[in-house]
Amino acid sequence: MSLLLTGIAELTTNDPARADGHTDPGDGLLGIVRDAALVVSADGVIEWVGPVAEAPDADDRRDLGGRAVIPGFVDSHTHLVFAGDRSAEFAARMTGTPYDGGGIAVSVAATRAASDDELRALVAARVAEMRAQGTTTVEIKSGYGLTLEDELRSLRIARELTPHTTFLGAHVVPREYASDRAAYVDLVTGPMLAAVAADGATSLAESIDVFCEPHSAHAFDGDEARAVLEAGRAAGLALRVHGNQLGHGPGVRLACELGARSVDHCTFLDDADVEALAAARGTTVATLLPGVEFSTRSPYPDARHLIDAGVDVAIASDCNPGTCYSSSIPFAVALAVREMGMTPAEALHAATAVSARSLGLDRRIAPGQPAQLAVIDAPSHLHLAYRAGVPIVRALDV
Ligand code: NIG
Ligand code: FE
Repeated sequence: MSLLLTGIAELTTNDPARADGHTDPGDGLLGIVRDAALVVSADGVIEWVGPVAEAPDADDRRDLGGRAVIPGFVDSHTHLVFAGDRSAEFAARMTGTPYDGGGIAVSVAATRAASDDELRALVAARVAEMRAQGTTTVEIKSGYGLTLEDELRSLRIARELTPHTTFLGAHVVPREYASDRAAYVDLVTGPMLAAVAADGATSLAESIDVFCEPHSAHAFDGDEARAVLEAGRAAGLALRVHGNQLGHGPGVRLACELGARSVDHCTFLDDADVEALAAARGTTVATLLPGVEFSTRSPYPDARHLIDAGVDVAIASDCNPGTCYSSSIPFAVALAVREMGMTPAEALHAATAVSARSLGLDRRIAPGQPAQLAVIDAPSHLHLAYRAGVPIVRALDV
């Protein structure tokens, strides 16, 4: 049965060619259509988009009562496969203890100790929590296993919930390798990667990621990160990088040089980093994770400067037990607007179209696209940041 959705006060299509001629800020970027309608086929594909006055008939109809509809959020950076509780670490940080990546070992121990079913239930609950807040597509990283078996297990469980899985064996050097870092890099780039990537079609991971952070004793320096990324690329994986989170460093430029799809955090950038990101526009997205700055009480990256310099900027949650245990893209959008100088339209675009591009996806509301939609209990997308903290947006089941 095809379904006609009406009562859409404002539809964000992410297709500038569709903008209905109004000149409010953001209309062009978001391809906004007012008083819109949509037809979705029985198998969940968008068949028609346009003004309600021109809508064709369908088998069934649903009136959304004057709400705004947006593309479902694409959360392109999460670490959902973990067990254990690090709330005390957060509390300590709020009274001055700095974040250095050392707490990852606590999550690694708890994750290794959890059963498959426990982990599966934890990840599924987190994905459901995201969907209830408007996220319809999620990337999930491994990285709290750090043995061959535990990394494979993490990716298998993630794979049950999303095709967008990322191998993060190079999250930190686990304690048992602390005195022989090179051996751990060899394990990640050798046996672990071989087991993860198997042959292309059956790969457990779409991408490989590395925590490139010379300011953490636990993470990887530029040379180690290069070795991980080059091995991942040779195995056919797309590249993602955690870079420049805790201080200035080589991560951003390395990601741009190697053609990574995304370099994430980008909290501490110098002019050369910004130039490299601008030159990599169309290939490498800068994914900002403002929930991390919130939860680690750090300075926010200057998204305004990046956008004005011509950088592709995405927003994601980084939902993880250490630096940001928030699964909320609406929260990240509100922070992006309030703290990073983005307009409401840029923030929504960054959490849908641009984050999608960093996963090789198209997130427009257009005929032929899957109906990955979210609905806001408000007449416009402006309410996402305006009504921060209020649960007004959710995935739309069609
Ligand atoms: O993206 N930076 C590395 N990884 C996570 C934090 C992981 C943790 O502390 O558990 C991040 O911030
Ligand atoms: Fe992360």
